[in-house]
Amino acid sequence: MLEDAGAADRALRHVCGLHNAGMKHLLAIYSSQTGRTRTLLEAVRAGVDEFADEVELRVLPALQAGLDDLLWADGLLIGTPENFGYMSGAVKDFLDRVYYPSEGRKLGMAYAVFVSAGNDGSGAIRAIERIAGGCGWNRVAEPLVIKGEPDEAALALCHELGQTLAAGLSCGVF
Ligand SMILES: Cc1cc2nc3c(=O)[nH]c(=O)nc-3n(C[C@H](O)[C@H](O)[C@H](O)COP(=O)(O)O)c2cc1C
Repeated sequence: MLEDAGAADRALRHVCGLHNAGMKHLLAIYSSQTGRTRTLLEAVRAGVDEFADEVELRVLPALQAGLDDLLWADGLLIGTPENFGYMSGAVKDFLDRVYYPSEGRKLGMAYAVFVSAGNDGSGAIRAIERIAGGCGWNRVAEPLVIKGEPDEAALALCHELGQTLAAGLSCGVF
């Protein structure tokens, strides 16, 4: 019987350690004009950092990320605002640049997406999922849409997303 959350956490890490001794790599690409997506990403980062011994996180603005970053990654997190019913131009630019050069090389790679939106977010999610499907990536978490200014509940969801991604990567379940 596990007595507390700390014991459960230690048990999970022990099991993960037995299954996978290697460091896993998580790439997070994002863009943000007014800072909301960036704020959400910081909450994700805090969740991932709880697994810092097992998962290395590389956070890059989408315009600065490229093929080498993608090839390095075992998992990809995409954070974007919704712009005109779509992902941001910067995130689209990243996907445009890596699509052909990475074709067939990241099949089954774990990915997740979160969107900062004014009042919708569905168009950005739909577009990213379509492209990710074309790349053969594997969605490992429900897409997260945060509307408006990030509040405590939104930050908690993002923190949980980071934990989920890191735990899954470190255990090798993705
Ligand atoms: C050019 C532009 C287009 C936008 N289009 C949409 C949209 O189609 N749907 C929506 O829900 N919000 C839209 N928004 C609002 C942003 O998605 C929202 O403010 C978001 O939180 C901004 O995130 P950021 O601070 O990371 O840039 C738009 C904002 C801008 C600047």
